[in-house]
Amino acid sequence: MHKTVLLKETLEILEPKQNENFIDATFGEGGLSLTLIEYLKPKGKILAFEWDPVLYELGIKKLKKMKEKNIRLVNKNFREIKKVVRKEKFLNIKGVIFDLGVSNWHYEESRRGFSFRKEEPLDMRINPQEIKITAFDIVNYANYSELVRIFREYGEEPEANKIAKEIIERRKIKKIETSSELAEIVKQIKKSKKKIHPATQIFMALRVFINDELKNLDEGLESALDVLEKGGKIVVITFQGLEDRVVKKFIKRNRKRIEVLTKNVVKPTQEEIKENPKARSAKLRAFKKL
Ligand SMILES: C[S@@+](CC[C@H](N)C(=O)[O-])C[C@H]1O[C@@H](n2cnc3c(N)ncnc32)[C@H](O)[C@@H]1O
Repeated sequence: MHKTVLLKETLEILEPKQNENFIDATFGEGGLSLTLIEYLKPKGKILAFEWDPVLYELGIKKLKKMKEKNIRLVNKNFREIKKVVRKEKFLNIKGVIFDLGVSNWHYEESRRGFSFRKEEPLDMRINPQEIKITAFDIVNYANYSELVRIFREYGEEPEANKIAKEIIERRKIKKIETSSELAEIVKQIKKSKKKIHPATQIFMALRVFINDELKNLDEGLESALDVLEKGGKIVVITFQGLEDRVVKKFIKRNRKRIEVLTKNVVKPTQEEIKENPKARSAKLRAFKKL
């Protein structure tokens, strides 16, 4: 089960009250939505987005089982917030939450190669119905300069050149088919001194590129600001520098339309990191619509 990161801090900023409406842009396994909805009852509602079709189906089943009628879950990219809000006639929106990245379920159960610790097909698509290119396609067919660009631009990988060269040599002999094969190749080239696995940035680069995550975020934030009512808040939790950079650029671009509520970025406490090591890189920023 996914453990919601910075939940207490998110609720403190949003100050949810009875009968208010919110958008959860990243429903995942529903941890945040199911906590938040208790503050909003009896009449408040959540419009929740989950782009992954399998996780969406699981979410629908969970909501049905819990008889939770105040959460409306849609299988859409949060890039489309504005369009969906209009279609659903969802009004008086007090807040939008983006808890980015993928869910624990993706690493543990999706079987799509998100984790370098598992022997799974290299896929990494959050929505296989909408995205056609897989991690297998990139790793086995992209040319040297494309690989270097993806590893640098989307993973900030300092050894992108060396890793791309090795991938190209290896795939001449045999196609690179699984997440653990790719992780092993990177591990042999890159001797990481840090605690994190040497393939972390390569896996991140492929995932972010394949799912167009930075563009999704940029458009999602603009869309969220447009639908929010005056005084409404946006909370964004990022897990890597590139995402945080998109948020900072968004803040700069919209400085006349928003007030920043987190002068210093909010990070998880040592206690939370101890309990949930995946929270270690989380950063929360929040702003209010003027
Ligand atoms: C970190 S998890 C959210 C966890 C959730 N807050 C909870 O408490 O369980 C992020 C989720 O957002 C989904 N997601 C990623 N990009 C998305 C997008 N562009 N639109 C909608 N959902 C997206 C992922 O599939 C994943 O399930």
